[in-house]
Amino acid sequence: MEKVYIKDLKDHVGDTVTIKGWMYNKRSGKNIHFLQLRDGTGMAQGIVYEPDVAKEVAETAEKLTMESSIHATGEVTAHPKQEDVFELQIKELKIVRLAADDYPIAKKDHGPDFLLENRHLWLRSKKQWAIMKVRDEVIWAIREYMHKNDFTCVDAPILTKTACEGTTDLFHVDYFEESAYLSQSGQLYTEACEYSLGNTYCFGPTFRAEKSKTRRHLTEFWMVEPEMPFMEFKDLMDFQEDFFFYIIDKVRTNRRKELEILERDIEKLDNIKKPFPRISYDEAVERLQKSGRSDIKWGKDFGGDDETILSEDFDGPFFVHRFPRKLTTFFMEPDPEDDRLTLNVDLIGPEGYGEIIGGGAQRTYDLELLEKRIKEENMNREDYSWYLDTLKYGGIPHCGFGMGLERCVAWLSGVKHVRETIPFPRTLNRITP
Ligand code: 4AD
Ligand code: MG
Repeated sequence: MEKVYIKDLKDHVGDTVTIKGWMYNKRSGKNIHFLQLRDGTGMAQGIVYEPDVAKEVAETAEKLTMESSIHATGEVTAHPKQEDVFELQIKELKIVRLAADDYPIAKKDHGPDFLLENRHLWLRSKKQWAIMKVRDEVIWAIREYMHKNDFTCVDAPILTKTACEGTTDLFHVDYFEESAYLSQSGQLYTEACEYSLGNTYCFGPTFRAEKSKTRRHLTEFWMVEPEMPFMEFKDLMDFQEDFFFYIIDKVRTNRRKELEILERDIEKLDNIKKPFPRISYDEAVERLQKSGRSDIKWGKDFGGDDETILSEDFDGPFFVHRFPRKLTTFFMEPDPEDDRLTLNVDLIGPEGYGEIIGGGAQRTYDLELLEKRIKEENMNREDYSWYLDTLKYGGIPHCGFGMGLERCVAWLSGVKHVRETIPFPRTLNRITP
């Protein structure tokens, strides 16, 4: 019998087909069983109506336990009342493996610790399935956008000697006789590659020994980091906006079903338009002070709560640009119009999701300034000599940024905590399963 994916049932109405998957739930009546089936591509109901099937089939349906793997064969029918819903009138039912009858994740509400402990099973549930599909859509949209815009993907090393974002949250590892770190960011390596390949990006896991236990922090997360040679700061926000909007549009167009499963308020995503609002750091501080809910002073970085307060003024993502130099990293270009500031920008998500794109800046190509900054930050010049070489031989103005995949997925899915947006989250207290 032809095997079909659940997502394709719509094309097989009237055909007899086989679904290979799992039974995630069952409701039984007097002589009927409603089997909820899933196969990775979607969910559908299979119906075993006892008067219409062989005795063994009815018995098999009777004994099926939650999460048993099966082959179910029957005719595809359109749901009598619901549009775009298709069912399987099961005539044959084969158990591949009968699941033990104590599946830990039953329908009742479980606390987050229990669910995280059982993450390997929790991933099978409907909402987690939907989040992973949104995540996949975002990854695909990123790669597609980059490819269409002539970017070359390069992969930055994970084991490094360089700290791109300061030394406070590095994971140290023994590297034979030396010590190394797990990469915090692939940026410096992407920059080196752009001198060969032009527009370049890396996309991979990055690590931060974050002591913060917030809904926005993981210790291992994925980041996409583009670098654009010859781009100047005035064009950076336009580019980020175009890139980010492309992702939003792909998700709200291609993953509506998943967003519905997640009970996401899709209208909020549908209403997002370009251009995104742009405010300066100075203006952001003023807004916060006026709100009366923040004790921020000029020169201080925003806390998560500050970002949330700021986001209340906007319906979509917005930019905050030109931060005080003391808050920014060594490779960023000072603002030629105000020496206290840097040519940098963060993109803050709406609805309290916080910074989604960070590190956006024009990178300095003034070798002397860079040497000075490395000294000021007490960084080991030796470890960065290769990075200095990139500027020494044909330095150029250029811009780049980093977008955290899980924060982006959390916002689009409307999931509160980033730990649900990566298959196996690593956080301050968790490294299993
Ligand atoms: O602002 P960050 O630290 O910027 C950089 O690492 C730059 N070197 C990137 C670049 O310019 N190439 O991090 C960038 C983004 C943040 O905006 C956030 O989305 C995400 O990475 N991020 C985290 N996501 C989850 N957990 C954490 N602990 C994160 N730290 C940063
Ligand atoms: Mg940042």
